[in-house]
Amino acid sequence: MKGVILAGGLGSRLRPLTKITNKHLLPIYDRPMIHYPIETLVRAGIEDIMIVTGGTSAGDFLRLLGNGREFGLQDIYYTYQEGEGGIADALKLAEHFADGERIVVILGDNIFEDDIAPYVRAFVQQPSGARLLLKAVPDPQRFGVPELAGERIVRIEEKPAHPKSDYAVTGIYMYDERVFDFCRNLKPSRRGELEITDVNNAYIEAGDLYYDVLRGWWTDAGTFESLHHANRLIAERNGWSEAAVSAAG
Ligand code: DAU
Repeated sequence: MKGVILAGGLGSRLRPLTKITNKHLLPIYDRPMIHYPIETLVRAGIEDIMIVTGGTSAGDFLRLLGNGREFGLQDIYYTYQEGEGGIADALKLAEHFADGERIVVILGDNIFEDDIAPYVRAFVQQPSGARLLLKAVPDPQRFGVPELAGERIVRIEEKPAHPKSDYAVTGIYMYDERVFDFCRNLKPSRRGELEITDVNNAYIEAGDLYYDVLRGWWTDAGTFESLHHANRLIAERNGWSEAAVSAAG
């Protein structure tokens, strides 16, 4: 299985933090954000990884990550997205790398507590299609939100004002080789982007979309609030606590 990390875009919601650097190089507690999606893939046994980057500081990814030996990788592949055409626009750049194989795609600003290996195994066992990971959240209107009918997802709405469930579609997407055909048929949304939600809806229409619900915590880090929250979750995972900080004086 190959992995694709989407770390393009301009990170406009985090200005001025992203004025001179790429969002995915910002710190989450003690490491740069991009480390976390790499580790999530590597922990699931995915060692063939491409990073789609963009913006002004793309060269810094190479300086930071090199060929990925620090993560136990032989190589990391890189490509560059011009502008901010959307998640599906960034994904299109990985077609050559995927070379007709199935892929696990992860958004570069998403941090997962779970080891995703069981979900990837479930994807390997399904005959075809796509697989998503959902998580119940208090603020679904910030995300792609599935409408469920029994066990099935009947439609996904991107950032709906009136969400039809309490679930967010998290930023891990597992796709078979048809994903690039679906990407080719996309039209830009109202915000002028090629939306990953439209790709997922194409799989729903083809009757070939499956999902799991995450057990552990999950967060994005693309707004000031979620960036702060992500820092806190990782700090706590590393044993940080208010009490320990007070004790240290
Ligand atoms: O975090 C999960 C959510 O991510 C999903 O629930 C939504 O359905 C999905 O659309 C997305 O929502 P956001 O609006 O929060 O995505 P954002 O624009 O912040 O982009 C997330 C990552 O995708 C970003 O860290 C890098 C990558 N990306 C994004 C854009 C717009 C690119 O590589 N290129 C791009 O042009």
